[in-house]
Amino acid sequence: MPQKQLTAPDILARKGNLTREGVDKISVLTAYDYPTALLAEEAGADVLLVGDSLGMVCLGLPDTLGVTMADMLHHTKAVCRAAKRALVVADMPFLSYQTSIAEAVANAGRFLQEAGARAVKLEGGAEFAPHVRAMLSAGIPVMGHLGLTPQQVAVLGGFKAQGKTARAARALLSHARALAEAGCFALVLEAVPAEVAARITQEVGIPTIGIGAGPDCDGQVLVLHDVLGLCPGMRPSFVKQYADLWTPAREALAAYCQEVREGSFPAAAHTRRMAPAELAEFAARSEYEDA
Ligand code: KIV
Repeated sequence: MPQKQLTAPDILARKGNLTREGVDKISVLTAYDYPTALLAEEAGADVLLVGDSLGMVCLGLPDTLGVTMADMLHHTKAVCRAAKRALVVADMPFLSYQTSIAEAVANAGRFLQEAGARAVKLEGGAEFAPHVRAMLSAGIPVMGHLGLTPQQVAVLGGFKAQGKTARAARALLSHARALAEAGCFALVLEAVPAEVAARITQEVGIPTIGIGAGPDCDGQVLVLHDVLGLCPGMRPSFVKQYADLWTPAREALAAYCQEVREGSFPAAAHTRRMAPAELAEFAARSEYEDA
């Protein structure tokens, strides 16, 4: 039987479920292409987030500022082809929504119309509440994103935890309320103290999805490549790496290169041969005789 694909209202409804039915938190993984989406889908992720982190994870960029609408559409299409049950949320890239409400709606709409996503995510607080309302009126569900918002990296002066002072924490709470009131169906909280995330989770009526925001959020999101150990180099301390796939992958590729160099690949098992009769005829006649 075909599986029902989760919708933004399904994810929103999980907020209530948490108190009635015990722990049933929302699992979110990033996905950037067909195989990563298929992996996350088969693993049971509720939401596949086509994050603009793809700039750093897949495109080798230093941050997310260079990621374009074209990049995001291209990758979102591939993810949507793999998603059967999970809700696909596409990240609005830098300058695709900040410039005007009209542009925000038009660009968000492209993710649904051209790529097949069923929701978008944008970074920022109350200043984007009008954008969220306009998107919602156009039929586009929106996930918010507060705390460390990587598209602000130039203003923040780096990838720094947010909401560490009482004043900053109160500001985050008020932005979270504004986004919930504007109609966001869920809210990512990135790199904020656990106490702040817990209070926001308690006080807003939409699910919070934490990344580096402690255990009290309604769900968690991690970058798939971090979970699988597919990203060499530094990892933020809040990441839990569940596997190291980089090392065996590099070893497998090195073995292939070595076997090619020494001529042991392809072996008989990987080689197709002609049927003996065809081979005899092939050996006996030249191509000019067929013509
Ligand atoms: O771009 C991204 O992957 C994200 C998540 C880390 C929340 O925004």
